[in-house]
Amino acid sequence: MSSFESVDHAFLRKRSALKWGRWDDDVIALSVADIDFPPPQGIKDALLKVIEEDRTPYGMHAGDPDVLEVVCEKLNRINRIQASFDDVHMIPGTMFSIFISCYHALKPGDEAIICPAPIYPPFIQNIINAGATPVFSPVKYDNNCALDLDLLRSQINPRTKMIMICNPHNPCGRVLTQKELETVAELAIENDLLIFSDELYEDMVFKGKHISIASLSPEMMERTITSFGFSKAYGIPGYRIAYLVHRGKRMKILKEQIHDIIVHTDTLAQAAAKAALTQSGNWLPSLRKHINEMHGYALNRLRDMKGVWCSIPEATPFLFPNLVVYGLSSNEMTDYLLHEARIAVQSGSTFGPPGEGHIRINVGTSKAVIKEALDRMEKALKKLKINK
Ligand SMILES: Cc1ncc(COP(=O)(O)O)c(C=O)c1O
Repeated sequence: MSSFESVDHAFLRKRSALKWGRWDDDVIALSVADIDFPPPQGIKDALLKVIEEDRTPYGMHAGDPDVLEVVCEKLNRINRIQASFDDVHMIPGTMFSIFISCYHALKPGDEAIICPAPIYPPFIQNIINAGATPVFSPVKYDNNCALDLDLLRSQINPRTKMIMICNPHNPCGRVLTQKELETVAELAIENDLLIFSDELYEDMVFKGKHISIASLSPEMMERTITSFGFSKAYGIPGYRIAYLVHRGKRMKILKEQIHDIIVHTDTLAQAAAKAALTQSGNWLPSLRKHINEMHGYALNRLRDMKGVWCSIPEATPFLFPNLVVYGLSSNEMTDYLLHEARIAVQSGSTFGPPGEGHIRINVGTSKAVIKEALDRMEKALKKLKINK
């Protein structure tokens, strides 16, 4: 029996303050994007080794050479991004790449297009924090969350400085196609735009193939700040570790800016990252298999609930069902499910206006937890009237 098949609530509440620990004991937590499983043993062993070796002095700014070596090898082999040490910077979490890209590239009066929207909320807030305006380019929900490329084209204007993509996509779980990426790349080149590409969920793809937009051409490598991380598929968000990839004159400035903010990324976290890439054995295929099965189970259950529809995810641990027939806003539905069903889900509207009407459910847990949550949800929805 794999360790993905059962989780213990007491263990979850103790280890996960944000996802589980903040709720009453009877609440099932499916909102925060953590998985409910301890990380691969190889990561734990690597951390203990760094402590034993007293590796407490400052490290190199962009990252420890042994870690960069492994990361570059992975970028070349898996992402087809021909990266060398100069092109990579270890950072404290993918979140930091969203911040530094907006901080670096945007100023008041600029616009950044978020495509696909809805989107992980810090994209929106970091654009606003830089004094710029977020422009939402909503997915086509009626076409399995495909990009609306004509809309994207029409949204570009002289104020546009950056297109921000998220591939695979949180919250809809879609993997962008080569054709979509090529069109986004063409638009960026035609209009001299920077691309920010969040590829944190690259290791959680079940259908389709993840392609990095920076791998399309050397020109796109110079136009794209790509971010990869370890928080999701390896279950180590608490260690705050990720890396960004970029080539060209901006990289020198980015490196200086990152140095001036953090000096460098935690040595322990970097060791965890290296171990994730080299010492995690069969972890990723087993996790993907489990999450894929959980998606299948949860999708079937949601389809049996009257009026609920949900696009089929190709990646990520998320489902993003639409419950608009019940006549409640996303926030109201989220509150209702918390109080009536004692399940915590994420309101779709936190992902920007295109997420309204939806809720996000994280299935990165055991089947027993998901079954109990969906039983409760089904019962609670039956008490609501459906708007015809
Ligand atoms: C799309 C996306 N980017 C970034 C993050 C933050 O990741 P990290 O823990 O690596 O900072 C998340 C977390 O949920 C996310 O969903």
